[in-house]
Parts: sequence; C-alpha cells; structure tokens
Amino acid sequence: MIEEQVRPVADGQNLMRYGASNDRESARLYSDVNMTATPRLASGFDEFDRVLGGGIVPGSVVLLGGEPGIGKSTLLLQIAAKFAASIGPVLYASGEESEHQIKERGRRIGVEDVPLYLFSETCLERILEQVEQLHPALVIIDSIQTIYSLSLQSAPGSIVQVREAATHLLFCAKRRDLPIFLVGHVTKDGSIAGPKVLEHVVDTVLYFEGERHHSHRVVRAVKNRFGASSELGVFEMTGSGLSQVPSPSRLFLSERTSNVPGSAVLCSIEGSRPILVEIQALVSSSAYGTGRRTVSGLDHNRLSLLLAVLEKHAGLSVAGEDVFINVAGGLVVNEPAVDLGIVAAVSSSVRDRGIRSDTVVFGEMGLGGEVRGAAQAGLRIKEALQLGFRRCVMPAGNSNSVENDGSFEIVGVRTLGEALEALME
Ligand code: TYD
Ligand code: MG
Repeated sequence: MIEEQVRPVADGQNLMRYGASNDRESARLYSDVNMTATPRLASGFDEFDRVLGGGIVPGSVVLLGGEPGIGKSTLLLQIAAKFAASIGPVLYASGEESEHQIKERGRRIGVEDVPLYLFSETCLERILEQVEQLHPALVIIDSIQTIYSLSLQSAPGSIVQVREAATHLLFCAKRRDLPIFLVGHVTKDGSIAGPKVLEHVVDTVLYFEGERHHSHRVVRAVKNRFGASSELGVFEMTGSGLSQVPSPSRLFLSERTSNVPGSAVLCSIEGSRPILVEIQALVSSSAYGTGRRTVSGLDHNRLSLLLAVLEKHAGLSVAGEDVFINVAGGLVVNEPAVDLGIVAAVSSSVRDRGIRSDTVVFGEMGLGGEVRGAAQAGLRIKEALQLGFRRCVMPAGNSNSVENDGSFEIVGVRTLGEALEALME
C-alpha cells in the first residue's frame, strides 16, 4: 500500500500538467501532420547508436538501467563528452556524485575541454532552470531515483517522486526537442527500481548488463519507440573507460578450446544482429539421487523442456544426473533458436564426444522432437562464415532458402535424431 497525497490544483494548471504541448488546442488531421523527419544525432559510439535504432532521437527520453558499478555513469559521461565536442552543449546533472568526483572520472577517460556542464543537484526545478538557461543539446540525469520535485513532500526515490520527475522531464524533452538520458537503479531482481510506470513513460528503456568479473558489458534495448527492441551493443570496460566491441562473436568465442565434449557454438540473433556464442554443458552423476539443473545465461524452464525432449526422442536420460549449462562470456541468450545448441552441448557431454570445431548450430526444438525453422538463417550463416566456420547444422526448413556458393557445408535436419547424428558423426 502506498500513500499518495492529493494536492489541490490551481486554476488553469491542470491543462498544463497533463499536456505535453499547450500551444495547440485541437486535434490535427492525419494528413496535416507534416513528416519532416528530424535527423538522429550520433552519440559518438556506433554500438550505442545501434541499440537506439540508429542514433539519438531529438526529444526522446532514454532510461538506462543497470546494477551499481556496472558502468552507467562512465558510459554516459563518455557519451556526454563526445556529444559536447561534436554536436552541442551537454548538461550532466548528478545527484550521486559531486562535480569534483565526476571530473575525476572524466580525467581517467580522457575528457577534454568541451562544452560539458556538470551540475551536482537533486532538485528537479533547479535542474529545469539550468536547462532554460544553458539551452543544452543533451541532458543527462544520474539518477532519476535521487531527483525530487519541490511540489511534492515525499522523499526522493519514492514512487510519486520518481513518476513526477520523469513526467516533467518528458514534457521538457518533447517541448524543446531535447534528448534526455535518465539513469535508473535496478532492484535485486533486476528490474528498474521505482514504478513500472517509469518504463511506460520513457521512449526507450536500455539495460546495461554484464558480470562484474568480466570486462565486457552489453547494452540491450528492452523497449524502443524508435527502433527494434532487444537490439544490443557490446562494450568492454578498460582502464580508461568503455570501448566498443565491433565484433562481439570474436570476443565471445575467444576462450574456446576446440573439440572439448560439452561445447557447441550457437549462432543466435540478438535484435538484428547475429552473434556466435559458445554453449557449454557438463553432465555428471549426482551425489544425491535427484539431479540438479544449474543454468546461467538461459531460461531454466527451457532447459527442463529440452532435457525431456532428449529423453523421449533420443533416449538420452539424464534424470539422475546433474546438468550444468553455461553461456560462455556471461551473455544471456533467449531466442528459441538456441535450443539446438543446448541439445547439442548436452548430448556431447553425455556421450563424451566433441563436436567438430568448425561447426555452428541453430534451430528450435519442438516437443515432438522435430527441428523447427528459425528466422534470419542467411544472416546467421554469413556471420559464421566470417568467423571461419565451415559447417552449419540447421533446420531443413531453412536450409534451402540460404545462398551457398559451396564454400560452406549446410546440413539441414528435420528431427532431433538427424541433428545429433550430423553433429556427432
Ligand atoms: P560507474 O560508471 O561508476 O558505474 P555505475 O554508474 O553504473 O554505478 O562504473 C564504476 C566501475 O567501473 C568501477 O568499478 C570502476 C570501473 N571503471 C573502470 O574499470 N575503468 C574506468 O575508466 C572507469 C571510469 C571506471
Ligand atoms: Mg553511477
């Protein structure tokens, strides 16, 4: 239960409060809406522009969520510096760090003299005042949970405050055609703290993922009004800030040892981009009668389902055994075409036979043991070819549709049995 206070609204204020623009009073005819597309602005990172769907849209509000210490402030400061250098002044308002601390970080990542304004402030009204004065081309708020509005009495970070602040910033963004980035804290279960409504209010929601012990970071779009969702960009944390990784497949496969049982290379599509990842499985006899299933980077239920399919249609029973599955590099994959990769890794581990190291695999498993087609087969194969793979085990339904000049061996499979045979020949 949350207490919400009812405030009396002064005359004439309610129209302002709920309307993003108050200069026009009536609805417009569809054909009268002019479509002069505003060009997108480059953030200075191609990987980040890709996640946004091709650059920063003027007037858009972007929420960037992520765990503490993952690098949100670092990324936004780098973007702020690049943006200020190439496009226009940037206001970086932080409620978490002093201007001194931000500059300290700036020195580390090599920010030079650019029109970048730092403002250590938590009061929404004062930040908006600065926006009026400075006319920045980009505003960054780090973080929305620390901002409070003078018009409300509840504490910063409370649901009403977060919602109020986000809504006011949204109106400001739309009115001035000003892009605004908000940093959002995440709760223990990984969702952005504060009301869910925050995700509805903003135009784009990005998550910054990665494991603390790995240096690479993934920025993923979970909602985007201006581009494909689930698009991702890959970065690496270095001693001088984040640097982009233009070929993530290479990174995710970099520690692979070939021909080890239990390892399969999967070609998955994240957003519009193909990424090769290694799926590792380890099946070992359980110390207790009932086997445990431990997964990282995949959906737990999906694994249970695939193990059941393996038992039913390939006679491969792992009921009394522990099954560990890991997506190497800490990436999370969740499209259906990962199925065949998991099935391949598990059976390779059970049979203690490696899969040929020049082979990639993708395809969805049906409950009847059939291999179902997956989207974008051509794109996946192109990526595999680029990374030096020579063979692909894939759904037969897709295999005719891809162009092949003979340099690449395509094995179309219809059933689980055929797939395992092709993989473990
Ligand atoms: P930060 O951007 O402060 O995280 P967030 O805002 O998401 O809480 O990132 C802090 C981490 O990044 C910290 O553990 C140190 C590391 N880091 C580097 O490794 N290299 C760098 O150049 C910088 C600035 C930070
Ligand atoms: Mg921070």
